[in-house]
Amino acid sequence: MPTTQPRIEDLFAARAREAVPPLYGAAGQRTTPMISLAYGLADPALFPRDQLSAAAATLLGDHPAAAEALNYGMTFPGLTQQVCERLRRQAVEAEPEQILIGYGSSQILALLPQVFLDPGDTVIIEGPSFMGAVKRFQMAGAHLVTVPVDAEGMNTDALADTLRDLAATGKRPKFIYTIPTFHNPTGATMPLARRKRLIELAAEYGVLVVEDDAYGDLRFQGDEIPPLAALDSDGWVLRVSTFSKILAPGLRIGWAYGRREIIDRLAMFKSEGTTGPFITRVVALYSAEGRLDNHIDALCDLYRSKCQVMVDAIKRELPDVQFTAPDGGFFVWATLPQGMRATELLERAQERGMSFLPGVNCYPDERGNECIRLAFSFQSAEKIEEAIGILGNAMRSI
Ligand SMILES: Cc1ncc(COP(=O)(O)O)c(C=O)c1O
Repeated sequence: MPTTQPRIEDLFAARAREAVPPLYGAAGQRTTPMISLAYGLADPALFPRDQLSAAAATLLGDHPAAAEALNYGMTFPGLTQQVCERLRRQAVEAEPEQILIGYGSSQILALLPQVFLDPGDTVIIEGPSFMGAVKRFQMAGAHLVTVPVDAEGMNTDALADTLRDLAATGKRPKFIYTIPTFHNPTGATMPLARRKRLIELAAEYGVLVVEDDAYGDLRFQGDEIPPLAALDSDGWVLRVSTFSKILAPGLRIGWAYGRREIIDRLAMFKSEGTTGPFITRVVALYSAEGRLDNHIDALCDLYRSKCQVMVDAIKRELPDVQFTAPDGGFFVWATLPQGMRATELLERAQERGMSFLPGVNCYPDERGNECIRLAFSFQSAEKIEEAIGILGNAMRSI
């Protein structure tokens, strides 16, 4: 007989004992009404509910594919074709065998450690970065090496130094995780010259580049820049993207494009096998005939105007912060006045009714507390103005 009360926690594997709750857990606990600029949520105002519902109704009616759509079965190949077509329009010569559709790009990013990482392996990340992905690499025991991001995305000179130093100690990183277009959290976009340099370095050192392009379609100003995958002729880029930001995150559909060897391996670890025969058909049926493209145009108009509202409000209410207005995506990243700490500011802001993401949540260590991320994607223009006004008050209170 055990002498102490047995604890269920003692049954957990080491990785589960060390696990931390997901970022999204904390927000619900407050009772003060809060205007949150913390999360990169899509604006529900433009969810194409009628058209999605029409697509679902078509499939559930006497559509010839109804029985197949509702049974166990394949990921709908028509959706894979559509992803290929979108890639070809960006000068990426994709074939269906090079695509894996998954339950959100999160699922695909979470599969990367299974295929690439043994404990102690090196992964290069950007600082700051999207912790939803980075935490997965960390949990797999990766040794994370951070390369700084500036107003032009990952600093490729610093990357070159990092790769050289690692090579000098006999280390070959498994991959470089980058968000080159409308970066989360900084909103920065890497110019062409840096993209080319990144591809060159990847080929020189034989390192995979994971190009996370969650926001790339949401350009509301400035000129298009080719994705990394379009600049890479040797297969060093694995491109990961999603329908979450351009259609609806609740559909949970994302995809990866890359060398067939990688796609096949990722698929082997996707334990449930294929991705929803029904939902992949709904997305494909909805997206056909230019509907998705038109929808993306409407989203860009909406996010352009909301970004402008935020930028104007920041200039008016927070004259002491430094920031660069993004050309697309969901976020403004701001540097606080000298000596101000984001976590302290967050407390003051929450007491007054608004929240944001402190920069420290975008690093795997203690860095980033001088920065904040403000999402303009979810709240209405009025709420964005109100929230930035509250933030101004909170800053003046420190
Ligand atoms: C950079 C980045 N990558 C990936 C994701 C995950 O998107 P999803 O799993 O909805 O496809 C997000 C979501 O916020 C993101 O910001």
